[in-house]
This record gives sequence, structure tokens and C-alpha cells, in this order.
Amino acid sequence: MNRGGQLVKLDPRVWALAETHSQSFTVGDRVYGCMRFGACASYVNVPAHQIRKMPNNWNFSQGAAFTAQTLTSYYALKELGNIRSGKVVFIHSLAGGCGMQALKICEKLGASVIGTVGRPEKVLKLLERFPHLSIEQIIVRTTAKELGGQIDTALGYLQHKASIVSHSGIDIVMDAVLGDWFQPVYDRLRPGGRYIVYGAADMTPNSNKLGWNEWLRLGYQWLLRPKLDLLEVPSKNVGVMGFNLIHLLNDAELLLLLMEEMEALSLEPPHVGHEFEFSELVPALSLFRSGKTTGKVVLKV
Ligand SMILES: NC(=O)c1ccc[n+]([C@@H]2O[C@H](COP(=O)([O-])OP(=O)(O)OC[C@H]3O[C@@H](n4cnc5c(N)ncnc54)[C@H](OP(=O)(O)O)[C@@H]3O)[C@@H](O)[C@H]2O)c1
Repeated sequence: MNRGGQLVKLDPRVWALAETHSQSFTVGDRVYGCMRFGACASYVNVPAHQIRKMPNNWNFSQGAAFTAQTLTSYYALKELGNIRSGKVVFIHSLAGGCGMQALKICEKLGASVIGTVGRPEKVLKLLERFPHLSIEQIIVRTTAKELGGQIDTALGYLQHKASIVSHSGIDIVMDAVLGDWFQPVYDRLRPGGRYIVYGAADMTPNSNKLGWNEWLRLGYQWLLRPKLDLLEVPSKNVGVMGFNLIHLLNDAELLLLLMEEMEALSLEPPHVGHEFEFSELVPALSLFRSGKTTGKVVLKV
């Protein structure tokens, strides 16, 4: 048996919020939620404002798959991105856990999406799960040089679809890939656009054992990592932001508000692409690290 726990002391204000919120649960309720660390456990101790009741038609894997990725996507799109109907949202790793949840949120809120995936086989998986998505909105990343042209084609498709003639460009970017893929997307931000960085998968190793060529690639990636000329930012009239969701756990009121808003969206259950037993932790992490996964990778404890 693994015992986890939220190893932080709650301040009295947060304790009061958690206590009030705990009145809405009874023993035996099926819940989903999030915690700071220690979630790979049979028992966890979580403040009540960090959990919600799970819809009856969801299974526990779907519940486990929901909060981290949906909250990440919702925080990026709503809090930082100021998403509204009619906006154009660009999402890297569209077939991933965050990517699919972000896509659902955009569809609910009436925003159009262009996304990238690293492998052609992920396009079909997306089209199967999202019937409103068209193939023109999904870009398979080939080279950073080609990405600009691929985005222009996708933007042209969206303009044509929405019969817009005046402007073209991206309003919100969700980027957890970074590397050379940054610049072509940044260059296509519309004035008022917001570029949100929340990871750097392209700049991380994708296997357990690294050869010298992979170390060289990572070193090269780090040296040539994207850099911004801050003098250019005001005239371009854009914002570049980054976040780590862990900070949201220090803002109990905002966390509770976002969880409530997310619930009110009545999103479909998340796509669990891969499930592993706890004893398969190493292969689970290896697969996740490979970049070949779609949807959420769930570990059963
Ligand atoms: N800042 C935060 O608070 C926060 C919170 C949650 C997640 N994250 C980050 O957000 C990203 C998405 O999270 P997720 O859980 O939904 O993961 P995910 O998207 O299901 O998986 C990561 C994806 O990254 C892409 N990728 C690109 N280059 C890669 C490389 N060299 N090695 C491995 N993968 C690579 C792959 O998709 P494609 O190749 O198809 O693009 C892969 O499927 C992750 O980078 C995660 O660390 C950040």
C-alpha cells in the first residue's frame, strides 16, 4: 500500500475554505482533484477545495486524467490568454493530454484551433475523436523552416471558413514544445496576441539512455534557445507569458474558482490513451517520454 499526502501546512484562511467546501461531500463520493505532490498513492490527504464530484458516467481513470491537464489548459486559455469566442488559438502537441483538453475548451468557448503534432499517426486519432476538427487545422511538425508556411495555410483555411477578409493571425499560443518551433509561431501573433509557454518538451531527452549525439543536440538546443528582443515587444503589441501550475495551489480562491468554472463547462471525459499498473512505472514513464503517446497516460495505484 502506498500512502501519499499533501505535505504542506494550510494557512488558516485556506483551512477555512477547505472546511467550508468539505460540507458538500459525503463519505463514498467519487471525486477527482489535484494535489501538490504524493498523488501516486492508495490514500491521499487533499484539502476539499481541491476536489470536485466526478460525473457518474466517468470511470476513475478518466477522473485521474482530468484535473492536471484540464486545469493547465484552462488556466492558460482563460486566466492568461483571455480566450473569447472567435479567437484563433494555436496549440502544440494537440493530441496530448493538455492538447486535447485545450481543444475541448476552445470548442466550448467558440474559439478556432490550429494545432501541431509530432507524428502523422496522431492526426487520425484527433480526427476520430473530434469530428468538428478538419485536417487543415492539424499540422504535422516537419522542420521549423516549414512551420511558418504550414501555419499560413491553416490560417488561410480558418479565414476562408469564417469568411474573414480583413485580418489573419494567432491570438493565443499554448506552447510546451519550444525549441526551434517558437519563432515561426511567435512571428504570426496578431497584435494583442499572447504567447504562453508552459513546457519545453523539444529541449528534453526523449529516452533513458542518451548517446553523445543526443547530448550534443540538447546542448545545441540550449545554446540556441529562443530569445526575445524586449524592445520589439511593445511595438508588436503582444504578450509572452509562462507559468507553472504549482503556484496555483498557493492561491486557493483562484484554484476553487477555476475548478468551478471548469466543471460548469461540462466537458466530455478526458481521453485516456494509455493505462499502466503501478508496477509498470518505468515503462509508463519511458513511453510518456518518447513523445508517442496520445491523450493521458494513467498510472493505476
Ligand atoms: N507548466 C505547467 O504547469 C505544466 C502543467 C502540466 C503540463 N505541463 C507540460 O505540458 C506538456 C504537456 O503535458 P501533457 O501531460 O499533456 O503531455 P503530452 O502532451 O501528453 O505529452 C508530451 C508531448 O510532447 C511532445 N513532444 C515534443 N517533443 C518531445 C520530446 N523531445 N520528447 C517527448 N515529447 C515530446 C509529444 O507530442 P507531439 O510530438 O505530438 O507534439 C508528446 O506527446 C508537457 O511538456 C508538460 O511538462 C506543464
